[in-house]
Amino acid sequence: MSPVSTPRRVLLDTDPGIDDALAILLGLASPEIELAALTVVHGNCTLSEAVANALAVLELGGAPGLPVAVGCDRPLLRPPYTAPETHGMTGLGYARLPVAGATPVAEHAVDLLIREIMAAPGEVTLVAVGPLTNVALALRKEPRIAGAVRDCIVMGGAFHCDGNTIPLAEFNIYVDPHAAQIVLDSGMPLTLMPWDITSRVQLMQSDVDRLLARGGPIAAFIAEATRFYIEFHRSHFGWVGCSINDPAALALLWWPELARVRELHVAVELTSELTMGQTVGDFLGKAGRAPNVRLVEQFDGPEFVRRFVERMEALIDRVR
Ligand code: BDR
Ligand code: CA
Repeated sequence: MSPVSTPRRVLLDTDPGIDDALAILLGLASPEIELAALTVVHGNCTLSEAVANALAVLELGGAPGLPVAVGCDRPLLRPPYTAPETHGMTGLGYARLPVAGATPVAEHAVDLLIREIMAAPGEVTLVAVGPLTNVALALRKEPRIAGAVRDCIVMGGAFHCDGNTIPLAEFNIYVDPHAAQIVLDSGMPLTLMPWDITSRVQLMQSDVDRLLARGGPIAAFIAEATRFYIEFHRSHFGWVGCSINDPAALALLWWPELARVRELHVAVELTSELTMGQTVGDFLGKAGRAPNVRLVEQFDGPEFVRRFVERMEALIDRVR
């Protein structure tokens, strides 16, 4: 018999959000990880909408008891900034999920992150797929989490492409650039999954139709959420599919063979309103500073989408 490897314990810091919701469902569908908790942050929608969405998606995915902790409702310094044009009026496109029976835990997201990471040094992976406010405040309150976390995957940044929020900045970094800089400076073992890569990881209507053919509430949810998301990508970028950024970032954890990474020093533009939140990579080593991230430079998007659809089919069959 082959040895059974223990699932990796994961904290998902998230602002659901359509692709965040897909990341949560992928996490629930993947035996390689054990989702320990969701910590929720402002971002794609308001904090209270994001919390309601997180709870509702967990219930949909058959995990109503998984802890959800409420985090920060705005960036450290900048004004709140949401994305209704991308994710719909309440964050999940055209999908309307039943209000969850569960409620959030009493502990603040920042405290939950610290407690979980410090309780098992070297064992917990943090995956952050929203603005980095919760993570930055956790680092300020307990700097030792930088050394205690096993690793940290962040979805964010735009390097060799247009931004998706302002011309040179990607949403998660743009919304709280100061928090992003704190995280980059922290010394955490960071992997950065940028918009350069995730924008090309596209779920197509044919993929959604394949899920719909299986029936059930998860397929119906994915169809209604992505109907809005696909419309947005078509009208905004002229694309046929929708980019599923956050699931692709999460999956780096157990499908690293899909990615090629390089070490790099990255800083965030914090002073110019024109380029606020731009991620500046020192590709030629001009700044003379040690690398602070592993940047994903290549990723097999079609293979990931194929595996993602398979995982969703398995979840649809499991949770009816
Ligand atoms: C990121 O911003 C949000 O719109 C998505 O949820 C993703 O985390 C992509 O730029
Ligand atoms: Ca997100």
